Amino acid sequence: MRNSEVLIIGGGVIGLSIAREMHKIGAGRITIIERGSIGREASFAAAGMLAPNAETDKIDDFYNFCAESNRLYPDFAAALLDETGIDIELDRSGTLYLAFTGDDSIELKKRFDWQTSAGLAVEHLNTRETLTAEPFISPNVRESLFFPNDWQVENRKLLEALRKYSEINGIRIREGTEIREILTAGEKVIGAASDSEKFLAGTTIIATGAWTSLIKIGEMPVSVKVKPIRGQMISFHPREKLFKRVIYSSRGYLVPRADGRILAGSTVEDVGFDKSTTETGVSALRCVASEIAPCLAGMTISDKWAGLRPYADDGLPVIGEIAGFKNLIISTGHYRNGILLAPFTAKIVAERNTGFLRRSLSGPPAIAGG
Ligand code: FAD
Ligand code: GLY
Repeated sequence: MRNSEVLIIGGGVIGLSIAREMHKIGAGRITIIERGSIGREASFAAAGMLAPNAETDKIDDFYNFCAESNRLYPDFAAALLDETGIDIELDRSGTLYLAFTGDDSIELKKRFDWQTSAGLAVEHLNTRETLTAEPFISPNVRESLFFPNDWQVENRKLLEALRKYSEINGIRIREGTEIREILTAGEKVIGAASDSEKFLAGTTIIATGAWTSLIKIGEMPVSVKVKPIRGQMISFHPREKLFKRVIYSSRGYLVPRADGRILAGSTVEDVGFDKSTTETGVSALRCVASEIAPCLAGMTISDKWAGLRPYADDGLPVIGEIAGFKNLIISTGHYRNGILLAPFTAKIVAERNTGFLRRSLSGPPAIAGG
């Protein structure tokens, strides 16, 4: 393979979004190396929620990072439609967060109070208003919060669109190739190698999700610790569309897709690189779904799957340069929010790399590492 200006290791939503952004700001000869097939790991397994507000307990750098990436989504979706003809189904109907127990209500009140005093958009709905908004929700619901700025996207279409962008724009994709080692010449990183091939590059970007800690830089393991956290999902496909918007409880969530499917998620399990679904996991998800909507209790499960979220030590994304190495950027650890964070992550990485920041943030992004 020819030398690249930019070599991206990992073809998930993060690697693909970075490739697109690098191309847009003028980088040439971009190559993505993917160990399996493009976009078939965590990014494929995800639920596609863009939810900076529903689970937030405070406004900090991470919140600002999430909120900024969310703000980018309408333009990101419109641009991808224009560039590729693929509609990524950005749905801005908002998110409902339900309370079924006294503890849930306490949690909701806390969230409502601080978010309203911080000026964030959140509305309180009583039982009747909640059931009017979503009639298939259980009548046991006590109350809910509505987050108008928490949206969803069809992440599998997003991956399709990003792949197509690469294909249309000459970004080279190599699948079925696992990078083992980052190649160095002194402090300078000069590319990466699989067991049988070298890929030389001006800039090398590690976007390997949950597998990041398996890569070596020269003889040393990469210094950033990332571990896989399994998330299982199930889906239903009722004949009619039951819900209009994403529905959360503190025990799980339902995500209604445009085609009528309802995704229910998700488990959070520290079980290594095992991507299987389990009976226990599936039945826990069935319980979550049935608590939110009793009509799902007896409905046939149409599909089930699992993916591995990339979890860094402190749960925050790791984006930046690795100390001691030039021409090497890492972008991983997006844990439960990689779909949400993809557009802004791509901008940060691309703009840092080319040395000019074209926008300023209200607060510094959640960049760790380096
Ligand atoms: P991945 O998609 O895993 O991509 C990494 C890629 O790198 C893989 O394709 C892998 O094969 C490749 N790779 C690894 N090592 C190598 C190597 N050595 N050489 C070559 N290639 C390599 N996020 C949200 O924002 N909203 C959600 O609603 C949401 N729901 C989720 C639900 C579940 C069940 C799960 C599992 C995750 C969810 N997430 C969600 C999180 C989100 O999916 C991840 O944060 C995101 O997909 C991470 O993207 P990534 O590109 O870093 O990782
Ligand atoms: N963000 C949803 C999940 O990780 O399950």
